[in-house]
Amino acid sequence: MNDELTIRPFTFSIDLDNCRITDADNHIKRNLTDMKNQYFYQEAYDMMVREDDTLLYEVYEKLVPEKSGELIQGLSIVHPGKVGKEYFMTKGHFHSIIDTAELYLCLKGKGMMVMETPEGEWAVEEMLPNKAVYVPGKWAHRSVNISDTDLMTLFIYPADAGHDYGTIIEKGFRKIVVEENDKPTIIDNPNWNL
Ligand code: F6R
Ligand code: MN
Repeated sequence: MNDELTIRPFTFSIDLDNCRITDADNHIKRNLTDMKNQYFYQEAYDMMVREDDTLLYEVYEKLVPEKSGELIQGLSIVHPGKVGKEYFMTKGHFHSIIDTAELYLCLKGKGMMVMETPEGEWAVEEMLPNKAVYVPGKWAHRSVNISDTDLMTLFIYPADAGHDYGTIIEKGFRKIVVEENDKPTIIDNPNWNL
C-alpha cells in the first residue's frame, strides 16, 4: 500500500506502436500458469503449459497514492491466442471496495469486456478502437481478445479500489467467450460455480 506517496502533476504518453506508456512504474506480466483452472479447455491448457508458459497479457501502470480521490491509470495489453476454443483473457476481478467503477478506452485491437454482478446480472460489451466501456461499481470485469492482434486498452479507476480475484478464481464468470464456426460466441460457462 503506497497511500503515503507524494506526487506532483505528471503526464504520460501512449506508444501505440509498441503497446506501452512512457515512464511506467509497474509492468505486470501474466502467463498461462497464472491462469490455472480458469480456462474451460483443460486438456488444451495442460498441453500448452507443457510446451511453453505463454505470456497472455501485460499491464503498465503509473504509481499514485492508493487513497480515496486519486486515480490509477495504465494500459492493459491482451495478446492474441486461444486455449482450445476460448480466447486469451485477463483473470478478471471485482474491486475490493466493490462499488468502485472503472473506465476502459480501447486503443487497438478487438475484444469483449465480460461483466457480471454478485446478484447474477451479466453483460458483454464489444471493445473497438476509440470506444470506451464504463464498468459500473459492483460489476466484475474481464477483457477478452477476440482478434489476432494485441488488444490494448487504457484503464482508469479509483486508487483505493483494490482487487478481489478470489471470487472469480473460485467460481469463474457465468459467461465465457469461445470461437464457434469461426466467430466469437458468448456461452454459459459449464464450469461456473462448480
Ligand atoms: C484494474 C483493472 C485493469 C486490470 C488489467 C488486468 O482494476 O481492471 O487494470 O487489472 O486489465 O486484468 P486482471 O487484473 O484481471 O488480471
Ligand atoms: Mn478493475
